[in-house]
Amino acid sequence: MQKRRYSVKASKLVSKMTLQEKASLLSGGDFWHTKAVERLGIKPYMMCDGPNGLRKQVGEPDHLGSRESIKTVCYPGACAVASGFNVELAEKLGQTLAKECRREEVSMLLGPGLNMKRSPVCGRNFEYYSEDPYLAGKIAAAYVKGVQSENVAACPKHFAANNQEYRRMSGNSTVDERTLFEIYLSAFETVVRDSQPKSIMCSYNMLNGTFLSENRYMLTEVLRDKFGFEGFVVTDWGAGKGPAKGVEAGVDLVMPGEGDDHEKAIIKAVEDGELDEAVVDKAVCRLLDALMWTDKAPEEDKVSSAAFRKAQYQLAKELAEDSAVLLKNNRVLPLKKESRVLFVGEFAKNPRYQGSGSSHINSASVSNALDAAKTRKVSFAPGYDTKDPSKGYILREEAIKAAEDVDVIVIFAGLPGDYESEGFDRTDINLPSEQNKLIAELASLGKKTVVVMHNGAPVSMPWIDSVDAVLDMQLSGDAVGDATVSILWGDVNPSGKLAETYPIKLSDNPSFLNFPGDRGNPVYAEGVYIGYRYYEKKRMPVLFPFGHGLSYTEFEYSNLKISKSSITDQDTVKVSVDVWNIGRYAGKEVVQLYVSPNESRASRPLKELKGFKKVELAPGETKKVTFTLDKRAFAYYNVDIHDFFVESGDYTIMVGASSSDIRHTVPVHVEGIVELPRNFTLFTPIADILECSAGKKIVKPIIDEIMKKHRESMDNPEAMGAGADKMFENMILEMPILSLASFGMFTTEEVQKMLEKIN
Ligand code: BGC
Repeated sequence: MQKRRYSVKASKLVSKMTLQEKASLLSGGDFWHTKAVERLGIKPYMMCDGPNGLRKQVGEPDHLGSRESIKTVCYPGACAVASGFNVELAEKLGQTLAKECRREEVSMLLGPGLNMKRSPVCGRNFEYYSEDPYLAGKIAAAYVKGVQSENVAACPKHFAANNQEYRRMSGNSTVDERTLFEIYLSAFETVVRDSQPKSIMCSYNMLNGTFLSENRYMLTEVLRDKFGFEGFVVTDWGAGKGPAKGVEAGVDLVMPGEGDDHEKAIIKAVEDGELDEAVVDKAVCRLLDALMWTDKAPEEDKVSSAAFRKAQYQLAKELAEDSAVLLKNNRVLPLKKESRVLFVGEFAKNPRYQGSGSSHINSASVSNALDAAKTRKVSFAPGYDTKDPSKGYILREEAIKAAEDVDVIVIFAGLPGDYESEGFDRTDINLPSEQNKLIAELASLGKKTVVVMHNGAPVSMPWIDSVDAVLDMQLSGDAVGDATVSILWGDVNPSGKLAETYPIKLSDNPSFLNFPGDRGNPVYAEGVYIGYRYYEKKRMPVLFPFGHGLSYTEFEYSNLKISKSSITDQDTVKVSVDVWNIGRYAGKEVVQLYVSPNESRASRPLKELKGFKKVELAPGETKKVTFTLDKRAFAYYNVDIHDFFVESGDYTIMVGASSSDIRHTVPVHVEGIVELPRNFTLFTPIADILECSAGKKIVKPIIDEIMKKHRESMDNPEAMGAGADKMFENMILEMPILSLASFGMFTTEEVQKMLEKIN
């Protein structure tokens, strides 16, 4: 049981409060603030979306929080930030956002979003990091660390199993225990253990039949007791249900606040004896501790507004450049200075750079590639009109004509703004057909063709084999145009890697048959096989694999070493590898480490990401990259012990440049020190009993004897066909141990005694 700590200050304050004052603090004051208790000097605290910029509404809050917000810098979305595989930059992003919160007197930033990308069509995937919980957890933890370094509370969201927009407010996600802990809670666990966020937002949906906002198991037993979360839980906006059940379950703050219904209901629940006032006190303590912590500003920020804005934009550009993924390159990029280039596509002028919904930023200034390339030899043709597809034919003809006198065609494609949003999911992964036609037609002209993509989630690319290069900018914020041009002409060497698999078609995705589920009640039937875990196990071809991303230079990996070749699951093992830049350009490489169990009794993915490091190397330079692996790198979640468990056995450590580009492997033996409980019954198959040493000792000789007698008694061993011997042996192993009695070899009491000895 996790020890709960509250500050003396919070406890003292609470002891001075009336029940009404306490209840008032547990529901918001308006859309964006907590309530004040002036008598005790408690001010209203403001919280704002995030997470890829500060969305602080101007003027009085409205009922839906949809009014105009302040003009500021929009950073790349979480989809792009994760593709950077860069924890330092994620932390810097968090810190810079928090500095702006301080300037704007905002105490809490509602982010990051770290739900897993179960399906590529979830409308909010652009706001989420990855299909891999290790990556999502590490990036989120760095971001939270950055935010909280300025005493601004971070609020990872949406806890949990909220992986679609359809019926996001009422749907019931059915997820088995192992899948939940291994995949859907793991990033939240990491963010809590590594960075202790001051707050966590519980989601709207139900999990296994209970709304998250009333789910005591999830909010108290898992989040607090198991993971060690010490902050407060806030509901997603409007997710609060019955107050007594909510507070009891572990919800501390219900947002937004309109009127005093929630407050009155808490008072009534306490007065009726439905809710213990001590539970209310704890919730208020947790809330005050976190909020009052935000009162302590670190150092005063003396940077002028203009200089701060400049630094914000610089960071947005650095992030956009760091996260762009070069998916394909047949030696056409970087572009040559002297090449005549045609930019085609509306997005070259009006880029798509962020998603819609509560994370939408009122951008101060957005760069576009056409302006950013104005000193280069670039001409332009619109190519398509996202608002009026009927213009497609004429615009394509114009583009084909404009391409006559150029050396390279760069097509700016992607998903229009109304394709990706909070509140609804996509129905397919196609680009608008006008764009697909445009790319196919331009690619057939025999000129070098480059496609620059703007998308917050995977799209299919039916033209992939006929273009020379694809640069995926994803949704890369205000600096999109500047960053794209720096990469196209090689001022910056791309170094992003896909944080999610790009499937060939939507129906390849493991959740396809169960997304969005009957009436929005998804059953996560694919289990732990999300993203690459599934495609790899099925040996299924994909468009681009997880972790894939090219560079203008080349990296060679050598000298993979581990500190010990055999460990127990209580030890750690160090892994090191040398990475050498053998090309002509300086560049960054994301070194990825995967662990694969050689054998397992559980159904396990072929391999899983357990480490990554981004390193920068000058041409000719070599750096040693090191990782430390602990128990979790080898474990899976075992439902018999309700915990992560390491099977004793051999594992392979794999190091490479993507999930499908493993450069070196090294074996390691891991001895698990936990024995699984042996609750064998009369109905346990003999095979299971033989797996434990005591069972083997007692039962194996009996089975050997049975087999021997059986073979001796057979005059024709193939009387039941060639497989008869194997069938018989298997039958024995599959039988419940009680069968030793049914077949008259022992009495039931004797079998029972045997089991007592083994258990
Ligand atoms: C969203 C949250 C957001 C909140 C406040 C909700 O609808 O799901 O992510 O933080 O609104 O805008």
